[in-house]
Amino acid sequence: MLDGKHILLGITGGIAAYKSAEIASRLRKLGAQISVVMTESATEFITPLTMRSISSGPVYTDMFDEPKRWNVEHIALAEAADLVLVAPASANTLAKMALGLADNFLTTVLLAVQAPIFVAPAMNNAMYHHPATQENLKILRERGIHIIGPDSGFQACGTEGDGRMSEPYRIVEEIGNYFRSSVQLKGEKVLVTAGGTREMLDPVRYLGNLSSGKMGYAIAQAFAEAGAEVTLVTAPTSLTPPSGVKTVPVVSAQEMQQEVLKLFDEQDIVIKAAAVADYRPAVFQEQKIKKTGQGLILELVQNPDILQSLGEKKNHQFIVGFAAETQNIIENGLAKMRKKKTDMLVVNDVTAEGAGFGSDTNIVSILFPDGQRIDLPQMSKLEVAKRLVQIITATRKKQQDKE
Ligand code: CTP
Repeated sequence: MLDGKHILLGITGGIAAYKSAEIASRLRKLGAQISVVMTESATEFITPLTMRSISSGPVYTDMFDEPKRWNVEHIALAEAADLVLVAPASANTLAKMALGLADNFLTTVLLAVQAPIFVAPAMNNAMYHHPATQENLKILRERGIHIIGPDSGFQACGTEGDGRMSEPYRIVEEIGNYFRSSVQLKGEKVLVTAGGTREMLDPVRYLGNLSSGKMGYAIAQAFAEAGAEVTLVTAPTSLTPPSGVKTVPVVSAQEMQQEVLKLFDEQDIVIKAAAVADYRPAVFQEQKIKKTGQGLILELVQNPDILQSLGEKKNHQFIVGFAAETQNIIENGLAKMRKKKTDMLVVNDVTAEGAGFGSDTNIVSILFPDGQRIDLPQMSKLEVAKRLVQIITATRKKQQDKE
């Protein structure tokens, strides 16, 4: 599965470093070529000789290498990597990565890397929950770094809690999934809609909703990182579009429909994460509406349902809808999926803590037409997006195999 892939394994200081040997061994069995970079403190926990024997590749440490050598070798090493994995990633190295420090060979290489970076944090429960570590992880996540775990359980220091490095098989599985979905998504065209549409009343006022666009942007980012050709049709948001994604800005539901319909035929996957206004003012007032000292009744007309029109028009496209609900989440979601003829529907309770508009995290359930359902726990919107990439890729593959 990893044949010909060059993986750079970074090891930092922590008791979990002994598990890095198993990670290297599993990666090698899957066909990966491995180079290892160990920080000085990592070498206190596991020897470079062990890593060299298990990985069968070069092992770089700070202890024996002159800083002068870093300057020459870090670029070549960074360029050769198809993927970088730092496991275990200590709180200290995560903090250095967040700041962009380059004070040892590993952090110097990490600054030069263009390939995707995965980190498997490992530390004591209190260190993991410290606001500084959480803030650093948030920065890294927003930069597109993949964070695996950590798990919860018994810790070497004798306490119990979050911060245990994920098990080697889990880490290697995530890396396998990453390469698998990028192979399957190469050249695939994905259309994502995001943000909340605005329905203008007059030149300065609109009817809008609370959507921040974060979920849709995360989905666009995750598909682009997985190798797909992504177009993001976005209603206004305060977010920066992810790199490598073609962006089409729109304002109203009608504009969004026009752009989506123009692009629809050539798409393979369409994900409608946008919060589309169901109604718009019947008349757009050319001049600012003045107050009259009396109440004001606005007449609204219904907007087209973009998703439903796609469901009716689709031929080969895999269509994913979203549903923001406040009650009877699953029942309402199932009804929407059937009505709009989608291949999958992602529902969330927008009133739940840690889910919904504006939040950095989400708690979603994924519904399928055959009645199956996947409930994901609370996780960052980018993690949800990555899981969606995997689930959509796998479901589509099953559909195609049946045909
Ligand atoms: N949607 C759409 N066009 C609309 C309304 C919604 O394409 N005019 C899409 C959304 O992008 C989302 C899905 O339909 O993928 C569900 O949106 P939601 O607002 O939850 O549902 P509605 O169908 O509008 O139902 P209601 O507001 O009555 O709950």
